[in-house]
Formats: sequence, C-alpha cells, structure tokens
Amino acid sequence: MQSSLSLQSQHLSLPGGHNRNLLTRGFRVPARSGGFRRKPVSAVAVPLARPQVTHSMPPEKVDVFKSLEGWARTSVLPLLKPVENCWQPHDFLPDPTLPTDEFTDQVRALRERTSELPDEYFVVLVGDMITEDALPTYQTMINTLDGVRDETGASASPWATWTRAWTAEENRHGDLIRTYLYLSGRVDMLMIERTVQYLIASGMDPGTENNPYLGFVYTSFQERATFVSHGNTARMAREGGDPVLAKICGTIASDEKRHENAYQRIVEKLLEVDPSGAMLGIADMMRKKITMPAHLMYDGQDPRIFEHFSAVAQRMGVYTADDYADILEFLVGRWKLEKMEGLTSAAREAQDFVCTLAPRIRRLQERADERARKMQPQSVRFSWIFNKEVAL
Ligand SMILES: [Fe+2]
Ligand SMILES: [Fe+2]
Repeated sequence: MQSSLSLQSQHLSLPGGHNRNLLTRGFRVPARSGGFRRKPVSAVAVPLARPQVTHSMPPEKVDVFKSLEGWARTSVLPLLKPVENCWQPHDFLPDPTLPTDEFTDQVRALRERTSELPDEYFVVLVGDMITEDALPTYQTMINTLDGVRDETGASASPWATWTRAWTAEENRHGDLIRTYLYLSGRVDMLMIERTVQYLIASGMDPGTENNPYLGFVYTSFQERATFVSHGNTARMAREGGDPVLAKICGTIASDEKRHENAYQRIVEKLLEVDPSGAMLGIADMMRKKITMPAHLMYDGQDPRIFEHFSAVAQRMGVYTADDYADILEFLVGRWKLEKMEGLTSAAREAQDFVCTLAPRIRRLQERADERARKMQPQSVRFSWIFNKEVAL
C-alpha cells in the first residue's frame, strides 16, 4: 500500500479538461489577479512513459461485443441526436449572410464581450479547443479497439455507427470554439494552429491496448472530465461578462454529458455480462491513471506546454485533482462497484483498489497542496496569447 501511495504522489491530478500524470512540483497560490476564484496549485503534469501494450483482450472476448450488438443498437445509438436536431456552430456565431454592417456589428459585440475576460481564461479555453481539435486522434484510438472498430469506414455495426456519429457530433466542438476565439482577437491563431498540427501528428497513448474494456472505461472517464471542464469555462465566461460564450461552453458540456452516459452504459453492460473482466479493466485504467488526450501537446516553443496549461486549469478550478477524484467516485457509484459480488479473487482485489482510491487521491493532493504553499509562485509565457505571462 505504501508503495502504491508514493507512486500516486508522482502521478496525480489532471487539469485543463485533461487528466494527467502529475509530477508534484509545488506552485504557491498566486495573489489574486483577475476576476476568478483561485484554487491552490500544487502539481504539474508530465507525460508518463509506459510500455506500449497491444491487443490485451483475449480473442474469445470479441464474442462479448458481437453478442451485444443488438443491445448497443437499442440502448446506445438512441443517445445520438439526429443531425437535424443538433446545434451547429453557425447558431452561435456572427452571421456572415447578413449585410456587412450588421455582420461587423455582431463581430464588434463579440469582441466587446470577450474584452473583459482575463488572459488566463483564454489559456484554458485555447487548451480545451486544441484538445477538441485533435479529434482525428480520438476516432483513430476508438477504431483501434478490437471487436468494435469500424472495419470498413462505413460499417453498419452499431459500434462503428456510434463511433462515426460521436465523432461527427464532437467535430462541432472544436469548430465552434476555434471560430469564436478567432473572432475575439484575444489569441494568437497562428500558434494555436501550429499546436493543433503538432498534436494531431503526435497522437496519444491512453494505454487502452486495443482493448474495448479499457477503451470504454477511458472514454467514460474522459467524457465526464470534458463535461466538468466545459461546464467550468461556461460558468467563468458568465461571471466574466460573456453570456454567449457561456452558452457555447455550456452547450458543448451538455453534449459531453450525453456522450459520457453512452460510454458509461456500455461499461455498465460489461459489468453485467462479464463482471470480473470489466472490474479488472476499470482497475487497470485507474492504476495507469487516466492520461488526458492532449498530453502530447506542443506549440513548437514550450516543450512543457501541456503541463503549464494543465497547471493554469488546475489553479483556476477548471479541471483539478479534486475533479479527478470526484469523477472516480461518481463512476464507482454509477456502476455500483462497491456492491458487486461473485467476482474472482483478482477482480475482488481490483474492486478494493478502485473503491478506496478516491480518498487516497484527495489525501495526496492535500499533501501536495501543502508543499506547494511553501514554494515560490511561478509564471510562464504562453505563445497562444502572444507570449503574455500567466501565473501557474
Ligand atoms: Fe468534445
Ligand atoms: Fe467528448
């Protein structure tokens, strides 16, 4: 137990709409300097090097997913929204079909609304947008999962149908935030665009091993993390004087909520048909920590930009170690993991690990916060906001 705790202290927390493996480094809470409520910052994320494992699901378990196709059709696909009922970025943006004067008035109003938001807010929103924009990577990740991948690119399997439509829904998120940011004039689009290009070229390694048990645990967690993060950027936009941006972030958050529900339903079903296998998968992902999808982010200048972005998100309370523990506790409750019976002895151990992890994460975070309070405050320049300095 002691060794697992000390390992945890090296890999905690996850700000910025991104979970991370954290190297506790200690940043003191900076003095208030903007309109938002501060949270202590104690940790900065670093990529965790792990061996790349592939195809870890026993081949016979592909049948589990085959046998669940009928269920997926009736219980998962209805969580998609028909295109005609979906919002589109156009609904929230200045309307270019208007006469030029009216269009430019709308752009001017947008720029006025965003003018009071602090720079650090834009760091977090840009990081979230870049994460959304690396969508090709996430579709690729899901399509590496054995038994559920889209075998042809237009497969009629419900798993593939879900993944394509999920991607199509998600695609609106980055598009909308990107265009809004562009029109605001508050951010350096060139550096943002470079970061997106670097990130998509780098990919990601969430440790899901082509294994849909692991993949769906990951997405269950991840979609909730983005729900939390976008919800917080919505609240801060409202507090900062931009109700339209608040609506945008809130609308995206509600998509994420619907998506998390779908992925959590899938894991719930796996717990029903293969309780021990699913429990082992949950524990495996939690032992690895949920690594946020944009962990390989780079802007061509700051090799630690993801850590820095994550630290700002943590400090501002957009996505924190507490949120990580909250999500874990939510999942333990939603999946009724504490009450599960009839498990193999290995799965019982996994159950014990998962069900007692959240309080340990919180204790470690408290200690990290304590250490952080004794350290010098630090700040860093972000290329995304024209190299202006932001406190970590
Ligand atoms: Fe999204
Ligand atoms: Fe999402």
